[in-house]
Amino acid sequence: MSKISLDTSKLFAAELAGEIHGRPAHESYGITPETEAQTAAAVDRMRETIEQKVQAGEYGFITELDAADEVVSQVQAVYDRLSFAKTMVVVGIGGSDLGARTIQQAVQPDQPPMEVLFHGDSTDPEQIRRLHQRIDLAKTVFVIISKSGETVETISQYLYWKEVYCGQFENWAAHFVFVTDAQKGILRKEAERFGVATLAIPDSVGGRFSVLTSVGLLPAMAMGVDVAALLSGAREFAADPATRALSYDFAASQFQLASQGIFLTVLMPYATRLEEFARWFRQLWAESLGKDGTGILPIQSRGPADQHSQGQFYMQGRPSQSVLFIRVEEPIEDFVLPQTDIPELSYLSGHTFQEICLAEQSATAQALAEVGRPSATLTLDRLDEQTLGALFLFFELAVVATAELLEVNAFDQPGVEHGKQIMYRLLGK
Ligand code: PA5
Repeated sequence: MSKISLDTSKLFAAELAGEIHGRPAHESYGITPETEAQTAAAVDRMRETIEQKVQAGEYGFITELDAADEVVSQVQAVYDRLSFAKTMVVVGIGGSDLGARTIQQAVQPDQPPMEVLFHGDSTDPEQIRRLHQRIDLAKTVFVIISKSGETVETISQYLYWKEVYCGQFENWAAHFVFVTDAQKGILRKEAERFGVATLAIPDSVGGRFSVLTSVGLLPAMAMGVDVAALLSGAREFAADPATRALSYDFAASQFQLASQGIFLTVLMPYATRLEEFARWFRQLWAESLGKDGTGILPIQSRGPADQHSQGQFYMQGRPSQSVLFIRVEEPIEDFVLPQTDIPELSYLSGHTFQEICLAEQSATAQALAEVGRPSATLTLDRLDEQTLGALFLFFELAVVATAELLEVNAFDQPGVEHGKQIMYRLLGK
C-alpha cells in the first residue's frame, strides 16, 4: 500500500512567526487563530456533509471505482482489437485529455506497447501538419474522447481524420474508438452507423473527474500501465477515513486562506514526472471552484525549475498565494555525485541527485516560512500506479470539499459553456 502524508504546519501564522524565523506574527500571512475560530463551524459542517455524501455514494468518481473490474474488462476487449496499431492518437480536451497525459508522464514504463500521442487540445493546423508527417495511418488508431460528443476541438479532428481514412481504407472504422456518453451524442450515433468500437463514460462522472474511467484507462492500457494498481490505489484512498481526512484538511486550509484574502494556490511538485499532474490539478481546481465571483486560482509550477522563475514572486511579491509542494521520497533510480578536486564544489561530493532535489524542496519551504509565506507539503513514499491513483482521489475529494466551503457547484462549468456558445455562432452554427 502506498503512503501519502500531508504536513500543513507551515500554513499557520504561529509556525511562520516567532523566534526561529525572527518575524512578528502580524507580518505573517499564515492562517491566524482568529480565522480558525471564524471558520470552525463551516469546516466542521463541511467534514460532516462530505462524509455523508461519500457514505451515501453520491460521488460518481468514487462509486464508479466499485465497477472498475468490469470497466477494465471492457477496456481490455476494445484494446485487444487494436493489435494492428503501433500508435494511438488520443483526441480529447480538458477532462477528456489531461488525466491520460498525467498517467503517461508519471508512470508509463520505458518500453510501452504502443506509442500514445495526445492531439485534442488544439486546432492549430501546425499540429495537424506535424501529425500527418509523424504517423503511419495503417498502424494508427484514433481514440476520440468526448462526453458531450460535440466539443469543437475534438469533433473537428474526428471529421478531418475520418475523411483521411475513408479515402484510403475500406475498413476505416477499425482505426477509430469512441469514448463517449453511453446513450446520446453525435459520436454515439456515428458508432452505431459505422460500427466503430466504443467505451462509455458513466453519467455520474464529469469530465475533469473521469481520469479513472475508460477516458484514462484505455490510453493507460496502451501505455503498458498497470491499470489495476492505479484503480486499487484510488479505491484504497477513498475507502480509508484517515486518508479522506487529508483531503478535508487541505480543503479547510484553502478556505481559511481564502478567508484571509489568499485566493491563489500553487502546486509545486519536486518531480519531473508530476509536471502534467500539476496541469491536471490546475484544470480540476479552476473549473470546479472558479464561479459565482469566487474561487481559488490554481498555478502550475515545478521545482526546482520554478525556483528560478516564479520563486522570486512567491518569496517577495504581492503576498497572494499559498504553495502546496509534492515530494517523492524514493526515486526509481538515483545517482551519486563523484568526489571532486574543485574545492568550491566539494560540498556536493557523495550526495545523490535525489538528496539535492529534496534539500531544494525543504529549503524552499523553509525560506517561505521565514518570510511569513504559507506552504504545505504532500509527501509520497514513491511514485507508482498505486500512489498516482491515490493522488487523483486526494485532489478530487479535496476539490468537492473546498467547493462545499465556498458554496459553489464543483461539477458545472457555465463560464466555459458561455464561450462555446459564442464560438458556435462565429462558426455559423
Ligand atoms: O471537466 C469538464 O467537464 C470539461 O473540461 C470537459 O472535459 C471538456 O470541456 C471536454 O468536454 P467533452 O468531453 O464533452 O468533449
